[in-house]
Amino acid sequence: MNKNLIVGNWKLNPEGADKARILFTDIKKVSNKLKNTEVVMCAPYVFLPILKNLSNTKAVLGAQNVWHEANGAFTGEVSVKMLKELNVKYVIVGHSERRAMGEDNILVSKKVNALLKANITPILCIGESHRDSTGAYLQFIKHQLIESLSGVPKTNLKKVVIAYEPIWAIGKNAVREATVAESMEMSLFIKKVISDISDTKTAYMIHILYGGSANKDNAQDFMNNGGVQGLLVGRACLSVKDFSKIIIGIDNQTLK
Ligand code: PGA
Repeated sequence: MNKNLIVGNWKLNPEGADKARILFTDIKKVSNKLKNTEVVMCAPYVFLPILKNLSNTKAVLGAQNVWHEANGAFTGEVSVKMLKELNVKYVIVGHSERRAMGEDNILVSKKVNALLKANITPILCIGESHRDSTGAYLQFIKHQLIESLSGVPKTNLKKVVIAYEPIWAIGKNAVREATVAESMEMSLFIKKVISDISDTKTAYMIHILYGGSANKDNAQDFMNNGGVQGLLVGRACLSVKDFSKIIIGIDNQTLK
């Protein structure tokens, strides 16, 4: 992929189908004018059939989770094939809010593999809950990354999008915002880990996103100086005004 990638994570929003249709349509109007940026909107499952026919190559449909088995006794789950039929091109896996509900790296890796087999792009979320002065968080990230990617053939690694989302910077209860220097450090570290398990070329082809309180005021700085090729945006993607500002601002820059 040679474009900036901006992903909106709608989480448990908006309240109903009408609002979902309006949000998607309004962002699509802005996305249609973009040249260097792909915009993905990850909606709750129930809205996907409604948004399916609205999506195009500039305003792409994504999901927030998936189940790795094709069918069977898995109450409440949704398969890769079901998402594929709904024109879903990207799926967030291993978001910290799902990990907090019990998902571990091995389960996440099964989801990553199932998606790759179906040619759907996994957006693999990783991130530490806190930082320490001895750098233990780097080992945590390394372990999370390697285990969440287990079973992925080396040739397929470049198809995975990695979203670095420090948990302490996510949501309205964030401890603080991450700095672009912290994003840059982690982007280089992730590339090093990927390079160690595959090769340098793959490491540099992989798209890395920053997520955690990304907003209209800091988005361009993360893209310019944070060593990332895109953003995973939570709260700010629910405001047409704010999300438009983010994607237009970023589109005016070339991919770093
Ligand atoms: P936030 O959420 O932008 O509201 O911090 C990001 C995320 O959880 O993906």
